[in-house]
Amino acid sequence: MTRMHIAVLAGDGIGPEVTAQAVKALRALAANGPQFEFSAAPVGDAAYDTVGDPLPEATATLAERADAVLFGAAGTYESDLRPPEARGGHALLRLRKRMDLFANFRPVFAFPELLGASTLRREVIEGVDLIVLRELTGDIYFGQPRGVRVENAERVGINTMRYTEGEIRRVARAGFEAARGRRKKLCSVDKANVLETSALWREVVTEVARDYPDVELTHQYVDAASMMLIRRPRDFDVIVTGNIFGDILSDAAAMLTGSIGMLPSASLNAAGQGLYEPVHGSAPDIAGKDIANPLASILSAAMMLRHSLKQPALAARMEQAVRRVLAAGLRTADIMEPGAMLVGTEAMGDAVARELSAMAD
Ligand code: IPM
Ligand code: MG
Repeated sequence: MTRMHIAVLAGDGIGPEVTAQAVKALRALAANGPQFEFSAAPVGDAAYDTVGDPLPEATATLAERADAVLFGAAGTYESDLRPPEARGGHALLRLRKRMDLFANFRPVFAFPELLGASTLRREVIEGVDLIVLRELTGDIYFGQPRGVRVENAERVGINTMRYTEGEIRRVARAGFEAARGRRKKLCSVDKANVLETSALWREVVTEVARDYPDVELTHQYVDAASMMLIRRPRDFDVIVTGNIFGDILSDAAAMLTGSIGMLPSASLNAAGQGLYEPVHGSAPDIAGKDIANPLASILSAAMMLRHSLKQPALAARMEQAVRRVLAAGLRTADIMEPGAMLVGTEAMGDAVARELSAMAD
């Protein structure tokens, strides 16, 4: 079997400890199966503090050449206050842009075992199975002009919301394709009642819809969509939206699963290259304490197996292993419930790896 090369960019905060569990799970899976070759490289504050650049050239090149990138987290609260080029979190934005990873899939699945861990009522979240598809390389995140300058003796902060029709079209297509493989419902989220960018977004998505008559397209304003996500989350199948709206909606949607510690993601480009990362970020307040939930990272590795490494059976096996440890009652602190067994990051990773070894053929 061919060797698959995985770039491991563990980064900051809880990034290294959760990523280590995903690597452990991949190794357990590979015992008798495919061969993985892991190459680690520094990113984020960890890289800035040693080589003065949150995304060193060698790291970016490694990521570009790998079959897939397993990413932990980048940035900390302290570095968020530095100028952009010195912020660990900036590495992620640069890598997304450089690899043109425009399609960010954030699947939100309410595990039956975790219905009690959400702050929302069981009957609201039961059966939730949706994807937030967030455009990841455009919008106010990257638009020019930007900056802070002085006008009429006071400081003015400026950012630019901007989308070309080509950028909208390609992510819309990705959304229709994803919906086609699921329940065939696509909800496009914008703010077309106020923003020109959004008016264009809506127009282009509607044009693309002509090629997908089998998919039901609806449009929602982002404020209404955020309410509907909490009120009737089961109504959603695939949500396609811009970078900033997707950033916000995906954190809210995470709570439908009980914890942001459960949410994986895949960021893909047109060539099928992918970067896989848990949605939760670096969470420096709980770093190094062995309490972070590694399941989002492990589920991200499952997405990597499915999308970049073309190993759907192994992806399913990895997801199955996660289901089994949850069914066995193991919980990290963020998803703890009365009667369950509290475990740390490492022990949760060990449990998943054990299930995978048991399943290996
Ligand atoms: C995310 C994060 C990032 C973003 C930060 C860390 C730059 O919040 O991936 O959702 O805003 O995109
Ligand atoms: Mg975010």
